[in-house]
Amino acid sequence: MLVTGKDILVPARAGKYAVGAFNTNNMEITQAIIHTAEKLRSPVIVQMSEGAIKYGGQDLANIVIDLATRATVPVALHLDHGSSYESALNAIKMGFTSVMIDASHHPFEENVHETKRVVEAAHAMGISVEAELGRLGGIEEHVVVDEKDAFLTDPDEAVKFVEETGTDYLAIAIGTSHGAYKGKGRPFIDQARIKKIGELLSIPLVAHGSSGVPAEIVQRLRAAGGEIGDAAGIADEDLTEAAQYGIAKVNVDTDLRLASTVGIREVLKATPKEFDPRKIFGPARDVMSQIVEHKMGVLGSVGKA
Ligand code: 13P
Repeated sequence: MLVTGKDILVPARAGKYAVGAFNTNNMEITQAIIHTAEKLRSPVIVQMSEGAIKYGGQDLANIVIDLATRATVPVALHLDHGSSYESALNAIKMGFTSVMIDASHHPFEENVHETKRVVEAAHAMGISVEAELGRLGGIEEHVVVDEKDAFLTDPDEAVKFVEETGTDYLAIAIGTSHGAYKGKGRPFIDQARIKKIGELLSIPLVAHGSSGVPAEIVQRLRAAGGEIGDAAGIADEDLTEAAQYGIAKVNVDTDLRLASTVGIREVLKATPKEFDPRKIFGPARDVMSQIVEHKMGVLGSVGKA
């Protein structure tokens, strides 16, 4: 069933588990996400970035909405990193049930102002809103330097931000970062900060940049001819722990990109004569499903739908 983000995330926060928010760009990715959620009886969020909307538009949104509507588990369609009020409203018009307004690069007051406008409009239509405070970026190993600390979300500011904006869930900067290169070795996740914010705020918290970049997938990518540098992701245990402290939505895009590329490359390498798209994209869908399944286990959302 198609539901709002709040419908999925409020119970997750209360139950101390997190729900995966996976980015989609086509039918196979969407199927891997939603069919795996059904298999595991897990709620799930499918998200489209502005880039995905540019690429797949209403066609792609309709694929997600149709699968979500027919699904036997709760599914929300979420706008990832909406850059403006207009973008958020456009997504709502397209049928999204959750939108993010990301004004985190602006000064605090401007972020509040932009977020508040979106919250007012979205709430009038029954749609839930995610906002962001702080700026994502890595921390070097376990050393937290004051200068870099400034980029992480300040707990007291987070309280003020939520009070002033009325956002339904809040993305916080806690040491995760976007992409396949999250630092050398295991990135440091500031669990104490999550705990503090979780104690001060009862709304669901969101972790962006949470792909695990599994070593096995990286190896398979290289073996199949792909080129990738010193890739590193967020450790499973860090996400499991973060869910205990209030992280209820965990964003994953890179892992599915890597998985689909592995699937496609392996087929093309092993069978150069193959040109049936189903035999090329089908295995990619299977590798993505495995990633989704693993993540749902890590986040504790299995059996919660
Ligand atoms: P990853 O790059 O770690 O998959 O993060 C995706 C994300 O946060 C999308 O908003």
